[in-house]
Amino acid sequence: MNKPVKSRAREKVDLLIVNADELVTLSSETKKPRVGKQMRELGIIRNGCLAIKDGVIVAVGKTPEVTKIYRAEIILSANGKTVLPGFVDPHTHLIFAGSREDEFQMRVEGASYMEILSAGGGILKTVRETRKASVEKLADLGIKTLDTMLEHGTTSVEAKSGYGLTTKDEIKILEAARRVNQLHCINVVSTFLGAHAIPPEFKDNPNGYVNLILEDMIPKIAEKELAEFCDVFCERGVFNLEQTRRILVAGKNYGLKPKVHADEMSMLGGAELAADVGAVSADHLLFSSVEGMKAMAEKGVVAVLLPAAAFSLMMGRYADARLMIDSGVPVALATDFNPNCLVENMQLVIAFACHFMRLTSAEAITAATINAAHAICRANEVGSLEVGKKADAVILDAPNHKFLGYHFGVNLVDKVIKNGRVVVDREKQGEMVLIRETE
Ligand code: NIG
Ligand code: FE
Repeated sequence: MNKPVKSRAREKVDLLIVNADELVTLSSETKKPRVGKQMRELGIIRNGCLAIKDGVIVAVGKTPEVTKIYRAEIILSANGKTVLPGFVDPHTHLIFAGSREDEFQMRVEGASYMEILSAGGGILKTVRETRKASVEKLADLGIKTLDTMLEHGTTSVEAKSGYGLTTKDEIKILEAARRVNQLHCINVVSTFLGAHAIPPEFKDNPNGYVNLILEDMIPKIAEKELAEFCDVFCERGVFNLEQTRRILVAGKNYGLKPKVHADEMSMLGGAELAADVGAVSADHLLFSSVEGMKAMAEKGVVAVLLPAAAFSLMMGRYADARLMIDSGVPVALATDFNPNCLVENMQLVIAFACHFMRLTSAEAITAATINAAHAICRANEVGSLEVGKKADAVILDAPNHKFLGYHFGVNLVDKVIKNGRVVVDREKQGEMVLIRETE
């Protein structure tokens, strides 16, 4: 068959995604995270089209206009579907061994998270199991988790250490994260969280452990370039404000950007501290003060909210996301994937954000994509569908973006495109056969 003359003149790209009912671009003039009403502006193109070459987006627009200029051998129809940027999950504890289902049963029956931790369980149980595991074993487990995340539309994640609590074991975990980043198509950004709990060896000398972090762990991890961020679990009975500040300042001196687990279970002033030390993000924030939120807004600290973690705490309390958005704090969402909150699925996190924190679907999508990319300093390359960015996209089997949050408990992903390649394709995963009794 002869091709029409016009098509020969068109520039060839690797992949075209055409006819999307909604193409959610999240494009923006500014390079800043979205705040206030901007969180509702998704930059939707109807009958949208993406042109992709060498793993990068080369054109975004209406289908007839983009296909006038570009042609491709692989053309995916997104007719009846919604195309979004791949989800960015900016807070996970990806690398660990073992599980904690028995403690889950204890929590269902009324034990609190902090009671379990104080009795040597919780994080400390996972530390015991992770210390026994090899880099290879940890990497294998991490890859399995990333596969599930990818199937649910996540294309970039942050991964924290924090289940080693010795220099050797923290390095081992960060080496596993590095390996996983090399082996898996999902991009993994690493955070050093040596200050996740006081290890049993330092039970009676917590400041001795803080000194080990300052004098041994941070210099070695920075030297090996194993992490980009430094985080602290700032909480009553774990690391206090002064210890948190010392660790974050020391990390900063070695080039590690600060992040904080702040005000998760009590109002300690973690949000204020995050603003004061110039943290990239403060995470959890269930008990943050109004002053703390204002300070974060002023300094542009991203609030990474983790409604699945709040759900798993079973306290019936969630971060006050509405007040944060109204105060001008940039809000992001993450899974907080960890052995206490075993969830890989950002779609469920979006549903929780809508139901428990009253975010609209549009706000939650912004929080799970471009603002999440800002929370890990990757907004220059991911988080929106714009020319020049990585071609990381999700095609959802949903006619519009409002189905995210609304249709929950199922995986809406039809296809995932990572670096311009189709890496998840539901059509190729085999038809489900429904067997029904016949009369
Ligand atoms: O973000 N709160 C501290 N750290 C994790 C939980 C880690 C764990 O329980 O293993 C969190 O919720
Ligand atoms: Fe966490």
